[in-house]
Amino acid sequence: MSDVRKRSVSPAWLRDAVFYEIYPQSYYDANGDGIGDFAGITEKLPYIRSLGCNALWINPCFDSPFRDAGYDVRDYKRAAPRYGTNEDLYRLFEEAHRQGIRVLLDLVPGHTSEEHPWFLKSGEAESNEFSGRYIWTDDWFKGIPGRPYVGGEYPRNGTYMLNFFKCQPALNYGWLRPTEPWQSAMDSPEALATREAMKDVMRFWLSHGADGFRVDMAGSLVKGDDEQGTGTCAVWRDIRAMLDREYPDAALVAEWSHQQAAVANGGFHMDFYLDQWDNGYHTLLRDGKSSFFRRDGQGDIRRFLSDFMPRYEACKGKGYVALITCNHDTPRACPALTPDEAKLAYAFLLTLPGVPFIYYGDEIGMRYQAALPTKEGGYTRTGTRTPMQWSGGKNLGFSQAAPERLYLPVDPSPDAPTVEAQEGDPDSLLETVRAIVRFRHSQPDLAPDADFEPLEIPGEPRALVYRRGGLYLCVNPSGKEIRLPKDIAGRLASQSCLFAVGVRPEAADARRLAPQSFAVFGE
Ligand code: GLC
Ligand code: CA
Repeated sequence: MSDVRKRSVSPAWLRDAVFYEIYPQSYYDANGDGIGDFAGITEKLPYIRSLGCNALWINPCFDSPFRDAGYDVRDYKRAAPRYGTNEDLYRLFEEAHRQGIRVLLDLVPGHTSEEHPWFLKSGEAESNEFSGRYIWTDDWFKGIPGRPYVGGEYPRNGTYMLNFFKCQPALNYGWLRPTEPWQSAMDSPEALATREAMKDVMRFWLSHGADGFRVDMAGSLVKGDDEQGTGTCAVWRDIRAMLDREYPDAALVAEWSHQQAAVANGGFHMDFYLDQWDNGYHTLLRDGKSSFFRRDGQGDIRRFLSDFMPRYEACKGKGYVALITCNHDTPRACPALTPDEAKLAYAFLLTLPGVPFIYYGDEIGMRYQAALPTKEGGYTRTGTRTPMQWSGGKNLGFSQAAPERLYLPVDPSPDAPTVEAQEGDPDSLLETVRAIVRFRHSQPDLAPDADFEPLEIPGEPRALVYRRGGLYLCVNPSGKEIRLPKDIAGRLASQSCLFAVGVRPEAADARRLAPQSFAVFGE
C-alpha cells in the first residue's frame, strides 16, 4: 500500500475553504451614508453563505486617510469610523463564525500612511524610539539609488524610502546585505522591533476573533532582497512560527505571486496567483482575443499550464496556490468575457488544485467600469471597485443615500446584472456559481491538495482535460465540438457525467466535448 501519511497543510479548514473578497466601501451600506460598512457585511452574511463561501477576505478597514483606499494605515488597531467601530467588526467576526464563515483581514506590513504616528515620530530631528522604524538615509541630500524616496518634508537630516505611493513610507525590516551605514541589518534591534510591532498587530486582531490575514505586498519587507526573497522569507518563517505556537488555526495568504518564495520558503499557507506581466493567469481571462475563455478567440491552454505547473509543484505538501476570479487591483473578467464564457472560466478556477477566491460581484458578472475617474488612489483599478448590485431598486440596492453621495456610482447601464434578477434562474451566472461551489464541496477529489494531472489534447490547445483524484474534468471554451483522442476518451469511457455547465449532464459525451462546455466525469 502506498504511504498515505501525506503531511496535510495546517490549518485544516483551508481544505474546504471557498473565499469571498469584499471591498468594504462598496458592498452594502446599512446606515444610508453612501458607503459600505461592517453592519452591511454582517447583514449580507446569509447571502455569502448561500454562494457556498465559507471564508471572507475584507480589504483594509482600518483608520486611514484613504489615499490608497486604506492601504495607507494610520492606526492598525482601530477600525475606520466610516465602516463602524471595533465592536462592530468584532460583532461581524462573531456573526460570521456563527454562520460557518471565517474572516481574514488585510495586513499591510510593508508600509504605513505618512500620517501614522510612528512615521511622524521617525521624521523628528531628535533620535527617538521610532527613528529606526522606517528607512531613512543619513543626509538630507542623499537619496536611495534605484528606489523611490522623498526628501525635504521633515526636520530629520535624511530622506526616506517609499514602498508604493508617496503616502506610503517603507517600514524598516532591514536589508539583506547592508552596504551603507544607514541600512539596518535584518537582525538589528530596530528591524526586529518593526517585526515585533507587526506581530503585535496580528495578535490584536486574532485575539478579537479574526481568522488570519491576507498579506499586502508580502514580498516587499526586506530591502535589497534577492530573487528568492531569502531575507523576507526568513521574516515570514519567524512570524509563521509565532502563529503555529499561539494561533495554529490562523491562515496567511500572501500577495506575492511567487509560490516558491511565499509558500515553499516563507511559510505562507497560500499565495495568490495574480494577473501580472502577461503571465499564465492573464492568458485565461484578460488577454483580449487570445484569452483561453473567449469563445471566438485563439486561446492556448499551454500558455497557462507552463506558468501554473511550477507554482503548483512548489506548493505541494506545504500550502496552496490561491486562485482568484479577480481582485480589487485587476479589471473584472466581464464584459471582456460574456456571462456564458465567465461560467466556464469560474468552473475551471474553482476546480483547479488550490484555494479559490471569488471577488464580490463576479458571481453575477458585474462589469468593469472603464470610464470612471480615479477614487482614493484607484486609477484604472477604480472601475473594479463599484458598489455591489443587489436589486433593481434605488442605487441597485446598495444604499439608500442620494446617488451623488455614493462612494462610487453604480453601474448605470439599464441591463446591469443584479442578484435579484438572477436568483432562482438556473441559467444565470449566479446560480451556476452556486452550483459549481456546491459541487466542489461535495467532492473530496476537488480539495485543494487532491491529485492534479492535466491531459493535453494533441493539436488542440483550445480545450483541456484534467484529472483530479478519480474525476476527469473537461473544459472546452471554444465554439466548436472537440473530439478527444482515443487514449483520453478511453480513460473516461466507463464513467458517467456528474456535473456539467453549458451542456446537460445526460447529453455530455466523453468522446466529443460540446462547444462551450464543462463536464466532470467520475464513478
Ligand atoms: C497591494 C494592494 C493594492 C495597494 C498596494 C499598496 O498591491 O492590493 O491595492 O495599492 O498593495 O499597498
Ligand atoms: Ca454606511
